[in-house]
Amino acid sequence: MNELRVDGDSLMKLLSELAAHGRSPSGGWTRPALSEADAAARRIVIARLAALGLEIRHDEVGNLRARRPGSDGAAAPVWTGSHLDSVPSGGYLDGPLGVAGAVCALEALARAKVKTRRAIEVVVFVGEEGSRFPRGTIGSAAVSGELSAVEVLALRDAEGVSFADALAAYRDPGAAIPARVAPGEVHAFVELHVEQGGVLEANGAQIGAVTAIAGLVQRAVTFTGDANHAGATPMHLRRDALLAAAEWALALERAAREVGGGAVATVGKLEVFPGGKNIIPGRVEAICDLRAPDAAHLDAVDARAVAALQHGAARRVAVSERRLQRVEPGAMDERVIAAVERAAAQVGLRSHRMVSGAIHDALHMAEVTASSMIFVPSVGGRSHCPEEETRPEHLTAGATVLAHLLLGLAG
Ligand code: GLV
Ligand code: MN
Ligand code: MN
Repeated sequence: MNELRVDGDSLMKLLSELAAHGRSPSGGWTRPALSEADAAARRIVIARLAALGLEIRHDEVGNLRARRPGSDGAAAPVWTGSHLDSVPSGGYLDGPLGVAGAVCALEALARAKVKTRRAIEVVVFVGEEGSRFPRGTIGSAAVSGELSAVEVLALRDAEGVSFADALAAYRDPGAAIPARVAPGEVHAFVELHVEQGGVLEANGAQIGAVTAIAGLVQRAVTFTGDANHAGATPMHLRRDALLAAAEWALALERAAREVGGGAVATVGKLEVFPGGKNIIPGRVEAICDLRAPDAAHLDAVDARAVAALQHGAARRVAVSERRLQRVEPGAMDERVIAAVERAAAQVGLRSHRMVSGAIHDALHMAEVTASSMIFVPSVGGRSHCPEEETRPEHLTAGATVLAHLLLGLAG
């Protein structure tokens, strides 16, 4: 076997080709699920996978699957991959690194003339970020069976476009394979991803071996007061929806700090109506995002978030809420975590075990197969923003660790 090493220039070239799609006028990248930018990025990946001679298929919800055959056709394959969609004005690495890294890892295996016993499949999951349709990790939830294909196809975006219609424009025509896989059908899953926090930098480690993924609850809340004249309405006669929402956001911050255990709470979306500079806000639409590494802490922060809505009554502001999504926290598989550490050591890198605060497709894959993730350091811990960056040597190191890990798992 020749030396197994990812070509850093080739990885950077693929990442920059993907980054040419979905540039946002407001900065960063906006690549909604099943959008033209998402489809364009996917076509680039398909071309690279086709050049490797892989068998390329798509499933009924639009996940892309490309298989490198193994010598034992009866052995369950190893999967690796991530997503190409992004948050609004996000970074260029969240998702694309796991896809480009997988492509380049397979190219490295081909260059090293490595044959594996098990097949290796590169998977590009659809709709991970949840920024277009009402929930995230859509593709992997269909693979694990948490969502049926029928449920996925019926999802609608804010403009009322159904997932089925968006998919028809996005996916290559032709027969689709079933999305769902049965337990045992996939031998193991690994996802390369940027860390999106500052733990690796703080620990001086180049590789994170992910032991668990935090769970999440998202709730949409409507605060309804009275729109009124900003000059003529005395303070004691107001029903200001924004002030009620602001108090609630601050209560969430306190709740996360008091609950502890790694719980975090964010109000990242707040729309103020009618939104005039001389009008008291009459209505506010807010979405909160609550996370914790275990169900007990997630329950605790969620219960406080709901209880804190009662404060609206003191301002005579009406409050209604609905849960958009709950994702249970999940543990990764000890054998795969240890295999990530071994692969890092083979490449001469320091690894660090850590929990992922961000959700990933690996969470659903862990429901159907042994899974873990390889993290690489995020410069300044920044992500979900245009400043998201990872040093090129860390990107290449992560993909090289992935190549060694795939070789180890596929035998
Ligand atoms: C996905 O990136 C999430 O954790 O929201
Ligand atoms: Mn993300
Ligand atoms: Mn991601």
